[in-house]
Amino acid sequence: MAPNPDRVLIFDTTLRDGEQSPGCSMTQPEKLRVARALAELGVDVIEAGFPAASRGDWEAVNAVAREVHGPIICGLARCNRSDIELAAKALADAPRRRIHVFLATSAIHRQYKLNMAQEEIVRRAVEGVRIAREFCDDVEFSPEDASRTELEFLAQVVEAVIEAGATTVNIPDTVGYTVPDEFAEVFRYLRKNVRGIEGVTLSVHCHDDLGMAVANSLTAVVAGARQIECTINGIGERAGNCSLEEVVMALKTREAFFNVRTNIQTTRLYPTSRLVSSITGMPIPRNKAIVGENAFAHESGIHQHGMLRHHSTYEIMRPEDVGLTRSHLILGKHSGRHALRQRIKELGFELDDAEFNRVFEEFKALADKKKELFDGDIEALVLRVENGADGPWTLAELRTVTDSRSPAEAYVRLQHVDGRSVERTAQGDGPVDAAFKAIEAATGIDVVLRKFEVRGVTEGEDAQGEATVYVEYNQRTYHGSSVSTNIVESSTRAFLDVINRIELANQAGSRGRDERSGAERAAQAAV
Ligand code: KIV
Ligand code: ZN
Repeated sequence: MAPNPDRVLIFDTTLRDGEQSPGCSMTQPEKLRVARALAELGVDVIEAGFPAASRGDWEAVNAVAREVHGPIICGLARCNRSDIELAAKALADAPRRRIHVFLATSAIHRQYKLNMAQEEIVRRAVEGVRIAREFCDDVEFSPEDASRTELEFLAQVVEAVIEAGATTVNIPDTVGYTVPDEFAEVFRYLRKNVRGIEGVTLSVHCHDDLGMAVANSLTAVVAGARQIECTINGIGERAGNCSLEEVVMALKTREAFFNVRTNIQTTRLYPTSRLVSSITGMPIPRNKAIVGENAFAHESGIHQHGMLRHHSTYEIMRPEDVGLTRSHLILGKHSGRHALRQRIKELGFELDDAEFNRVFEEFKALADKKKELFDGDIEALVLRVENGADGPWTLAELRTVTDSRSPAEAYVRLQHVDGRSVERTAQGDGPVDAAFKAIEAATGIDVVLRKFEVRGVTEGEDAQGEATVYVEYNQRTYHGSSVSTNIVESSTRAFLDVINRIELANQAGSRGRDERSGAERAAQAAV
């Protein structure tokens, strides 16, 4: 079916390309939470993962396929039967599904990575698409590193995969190398020279190495692309992917120029961005377009004066269009359930009664410690309850002793879901270091601490501190985060969050090794 020329599909790859970036890995319940938020946001396609990458990935794609309805659920696969079969099985329960197969086409990748001649690339790409079509009518093909591929050869590959049954052809700027005019030319060339191209959806997938992912995606739309692949907050490999919120708001704010629409409920952008940031531990820069703290703040006197006269003097979008409904209303311990529920709703979160009751309990406990609760505090409470404790360890008790003349000491008592209760005491260079060491001793998981930061969720002396911890374990980066008015406690909980992620990943990995056949495992190593 020919694509609708007025409509740009939004293909979200936060759970695949985004999750692939160091420190952004998510647990399965977190992936489900993000997938549900994406469905509410109105994305057309959710790329839920790369099922052949690991058992954990397979299970996450399968869970999203079973539980998240509305968008098309997509799984990535290399051009081999084993990968494609794993993707097809993982997606089998999705009412609307897509298999996305890819193979690199550029001379650099052909020579150094694949060691394949052009004919071999075309043969394998066609074979991949044909196999995928055995399982699914909706098949996307990506010539990886397309932007550095010889145009004539790219056109040859694209024509061959369309003939083989691809319904979407995606043109990735895998290494973030292209620039707008050059990239538009690639799309124009393909539209002019590839037979059958008018019958498929042309898609664009840009990385941000030179800071041009959004600009390159927009230029591709002008040149005929009708699907944009992007991620929330632009997370992704290296410098990241095209940022969903930026590209969507550019299309909306400049609709008269682009003449296309998306299906995105833009008022869901801000809460979705906050959710992904809190789950991945990847902070949003203050000056980030659309969702950064300063995106709608006006500091200079001239700007403030203009804004008071008319907001459009210095504002091209309204904060409420992206779901930013900050108010100066401050809640405190006398605020009731109704006021809190109302504020949570205004901040863009939907909670069921059980979740709201938990938030309300925590709200009351926090209001006893802190006089005034700002939007940042409410957001942190909601995200903590929404993100839940995925275990398996919980912190039952923490005590620390510090004095300036001797090493600090920390005592922790941890509870495991399997019923174990373990206590340990350790010394360290300060209470946080001591608590981290006590947790390592209690759980038997030793990590290398790479980064540790604490930032105030709001302003003021009694602000809550959000601690984020990045560690390395078995050559992978893991992160954890937590919020509390006591920064030793938030740091300790953030570290335990990391340990929990490692234990869950270990469990998923070892189950994978036990359950998957030799052929399936071998497929991971093959192209
Ligand atoms: O960047 C890239 O080339 C990719 C493909 C798999 C689409 O992520
Ligand atoms: Zn990519």
